[in-house]
Amino acid sequence: MANEAVGVEEQNHSITQSVSQRYAKAVTNGEQLCCPTGYNHEDLGKFIPEPVLKVSYGCGTPVGLSTVQSGEVVLDIGSGGGIDCFEASRKVGPQGRVIGIDMTDEMLALARTHAPAVAKNLGYPEPNVDFRKGFADAMPVGDDQVDLIISNCVINLAPDKKKVFREMFRVLRPGGRFTISDIVADQPIPNYLIHDKAKWGDCLSGALTIKDYWGGLRDAGFTGLHQVTGIPWRVIDGIHFVSVTLTGYKLASTFSTPSPAFATLTGPFSQVVDEMGTTFYRGKPQQIDVRTASLFALAPYKDRFIVAERPLPLSSQDSRTIAIYPEEAPCVWEGQFAVLTGPFLAVCDDDHHTYRCGEPLEICSKTFNVLQSPSYQPYFATINRAREGVTSEPVICGTSTGCC
Ligand SMILES: C[S@@+](CC[C@H](N)C(=O)[O-])C[C@H]1O[C@@H](n2cnc3c(N)ncnc32)[C@H](O)[C@@H]1O
Repeated sequence: MANEAVGVEEQNHSITQSVSQRYAKAVTNGEQLCCPTGYNHEDLGKFIPEPVLKVSYGCGTPVGLSTVQSGEVVLDIGSGGGIDCFEASRKVGPQGRVIGIDMTDEMLALARTHAPAVAKNLGYPEPNVDFRKGFADAMPVGDDQVDLIISNCVINLAPDKKKVFREMFRVLRPGGRFTISDIVADQPIPNYLIHDKAKWGDCLSGALTIKDYWGGLRDAGFTGLHQVTGIPWRVIDGIHFVSVTLTGYKLASTFSTPSPAFATLTGPFSQVVDEMGTTFYRGKPQQIDVRTASLFALAPYKDRFIVAERPLPLSSQDSRTIAIYPEEAPCVWEGQFAVLTGPFLAVCDDDHHTYRCGEPLEICSKTFNVLQSPSYQPYFATINRAREGVTSEPVICGTSTGCC
């Protein structure tokens, strides 16, 4: 057993070394890597020097989502050349602070070199960004220090993600939150990719499934886990890699919500299971504890529940009730799969489907259309597993045929 643990540690160390060398080389060459972010380089170029923008290796825009508030302490895991840190520096203002952690000396050197110029361009008396050398799974940051954690295409590169998630929970203050962009896969990565060290640096070999990613964060203590954006990225050997940005909370340990409270699910789901394992039925009020009430006051739970001091039943005629039925038309199987991306562990729609968080479920054209509606959309990622289009015939389905 002890030998096995040493073996895993050695393997993890070797992956980390190979990833670090990869990024050291990339930053030295100014190579283009990973997927393009959605940051507006023209805007960032007003205060961030070109050499930093050139090595922007993220897969999302965690700082571009109005998540960063003035005066906050922000931590960026795997800060690279510093692009997200510098944008966060602008958003927190001179009263706020940003900490960037990276394991690669060459990345840290680039970021540190340009920090004074960024501060000057922003009109700050001195840089409010501190770049520290360290690992995502052993962060050089004290307990409960941080308001917001960001990260852009880094955690997939860490071999021991459970340790990273535990570290995130440790450094966040109670009431803090994270918004991270990363690459996930629609199915477990096979061994031949896991053992291909070169592909780790490409953000492929280390990708977790949504189920495992969310599960790891939940095990570390986070709640309210949900996807903010999801963009299909690459398909390799039938595996769909998706760039996601997700958010979650480290709830405070004391709550100001009055007790007792009741929550009524408004829809569009007919039924949901929340992260604590409690089932709610549309329109039926249910008593909730203070912790749940405080969680349901946050996005995206707050959009799906009415929380009140007294039970508030909702009839199907009530304008606050949302139900979306599939159109009365034949359905076509086009290769679409829907993945529930939280915060619920499971949900049911009005057409007999049960979706479980992180588990792709094949859906027909009618259901695909239902899930495009604005009240469903934030809770799902959809992928198309049909390789070159399909020629499936339309099928008439009803409650007895059970085709969808
Ligand atoms: C894909 S780049 C992203 C850099 C930056 N976030 C951006 O958006 O440009 C990954 C960065 O994470 C760093 N990194 C990878 N694994 C790490 C780990 N386990 N601990 C600390 N840094 C890590 C690498 O050195 C590299 O700078």
